[in-house]
Amino acid sequence: MPANDPGEPPGPVGSLAQRVAQAADLVTVALDELLPRADGPESQLTEAMRYAALGPGKRLRTFFALETGKMFDVPERSVLRAACALECIQAYSLIHDDLPCMDDDDMRRGRPTVHKAYDEATAVLAGDALQTAAFEILAHPDTHSDGAIRAELVMKLAQAAGARGMAGGQMIDILGVRDDLGGVARMQRLKTGALIACAFELPLVLARAKDSERHAMLGFAQDLGLAYQIVDDLLDAEGDAASLGKAVGKDAAKGKANFVTLLGVEAARERLSLLSGQTKAHLEPFGEAAEFLRASVDFVLERRN
Ligand code: IPE
Ligand code: IPE
Ligand code: MG
Ligand code: MG
Ligand code: MG
Repeated sequence: MPANDPGEPPGPVGSLAQRVAQAADLVTVALDELLPRADGPESQLTEAMRYAALGPGKRLRTFFALETGKMFDVPERSVLRAACALECIQAYSLIHDDLPCMDDDDMRRGRPTVHKAYDEATAVLAGDALQTAAFEILAHPDTHSDGAIRAELVMKLAQAAGARGMAGGQMIDILGVRDDLGGVARMQRLKTGALIACAFELPLVLARAKDSERHAMLGFAQDLGLAYQIVDDLLDAEGDAASLGKAVGKDAAKGKANFVTLLGVEAARERLSLLSGQTKAHLEPFGEAAEFLRASVDFVLERRN
């Protein structure tokens, strides 16, 4: 994605798309430097890690982290390392999500999934090693000079990725528990919301933000994370594989419980529009400083890929 597309429309949405593209460029360059390379036979592992993590993701978690960092005056180099850690976890979660034993998908980000481009064992290992790379990046003194801050970053990311976060949500998804809507919302909060929320939490840790600020931002992040997964589920039902870069129509075919398969497209859309106002309301205490985060709610809701 070019950082400055001359065809971009003017106005807040245009400049928002540019900021997302710039965030994507920044994190891809930083990840390229941070991810390991190898000469020996283990180079198959490092190549697969790089294939997954450097591929054309939207990098919205990075965008959220960088914008939050700007709001709270955190040095960009620190937030960028936190964003690299988030993108390593994101890439790992997608590699494993696509495995034959999980969603069994062949395409991701417009290219063959890691187990198709390499093999299943390499995909499992690349996911494992991207997960540990995330914590190595956060724990390094370059992320922050204060070890207590680094330990808090590690704890927040571990909580977001683990059994009470993404991995726990994936378990519920795979079991196909057909619960009430509250149960589905809980699954979505864990499998997608936790890592999205973490994109806001890590910069707040770096900023040593006040509890009241963390509370408001977290309310925003949790609602945005839920909206993010509902949009993903709508796109699975209505989107096209070419613009999404991944297969569509899988959730209904696999009997997955989500807002769209349980409520239908129209009711899911209505929920999303209610959620939009509720999400933005959390940003009221931040006024103009939250301009781009406020606009990003519409950006997330209207995305087509
Ligand atoms: C896909 O996430 C999986 C979900 C949590 C919905 P994204 O839609 O953010 O995927 P990338 O990182 O841009 O490929
Ligand atoms: C996966 O949700 C969320 C993750 C934690 C990876 P989906 O299975 O709906 O994501 P896609 O549609 O394959 O990207
Ligand atoms: Mg899945
Ligand atoms: Mg999937
Ligand atoms: Mg999906």
